[in-house]
Amino acid sequence: MSKDFRIAPSILSADFAKLGQEVSDVITSGADIVHFDVMDNHYVPNLTIGPLVCEAIRPVTDAIIDVHLMIEPVDRIIPDFAKAGANIITFHPEASNHIDRSLSLVRDQGCKSGLVFNPATPLDYLDYVMDKVDMVLLMSVNPGFGGQKFLPSALEKLKAARKKIDAYTQETGREIWLEIDGGVNANNIADIARAGADTFVAGSAVFGAANDSDPNRYNTIIKQLRDSLASA
Ligand code: DX5
Ligand code: ZN
Repeated sequence: MSKDFRIAPSILSADFAKLGQEVSDVITSGADIVHFDVMDNHYVPNLTIGPLVCEAIRPVTDAIIDVHLMIEPVDRIIPDFAKAGANIITFHPEASNHIDRSLSLVRDQGCKSGLVFNPATPLDYLDYVMDKVDMVLLMSVNPGFGGQKFLPSALEKLKAARKKIDAYTQETGREIWLEIDGGVNANNIADIARAGADTFVAGSAVFGAANDSDPNRYNTIIKQLRDSLASA
């Protein structure tokens, strides 16, 4: 299969006491993207990391930093993440009163923009803003915590999103990435790829897989994910 697959470890499951090392090691071990989960104890019932932490890890790697905002509202803080070195900024449509404006704001700041869909959020939000979206992110768990179980309903939804994206790409020639987030592991990643995802967030599956200090300690799990993808 010629399609490009990207693996995006979520640092939510990394060891925060040595976050810079974790980021650098997971990329050295073969991951493509750093997935950065931002939670505000308001839009989701958990509180994590903000622009200061993004700025701190920016010099550690050249890899894409993919900021997933689980916060409400979004506009005030988008420029802060752009300045902190984010490459992609995604947000949940329910968390913005003016989705079109927030997407433009992300792009105006020089970042790629994306919309995130909770398990029960319809894909219709895409219909009038496809031209402003660089990535579609489907949640396969309810957002807020790492380590949850993959919700199988995400597979049908991926197929529907893939159809919309392919139709758009055929018409315009512009690519849109399709990312999946929640409960991804080496056992289900091939099915997820077959349903249409090209970018795979994995938190606990990656960071839970090793506990020594070898800089290449995530090699094995990332290779397992890629091997499974190769069979898709
Ligand atoms: C959940 C976050 C995810 C999470 C994924 O709200 O958006 O990125 O960290 O973790 P796992 O892979 O453990 O489900
Ligand atoms: Zn996420």
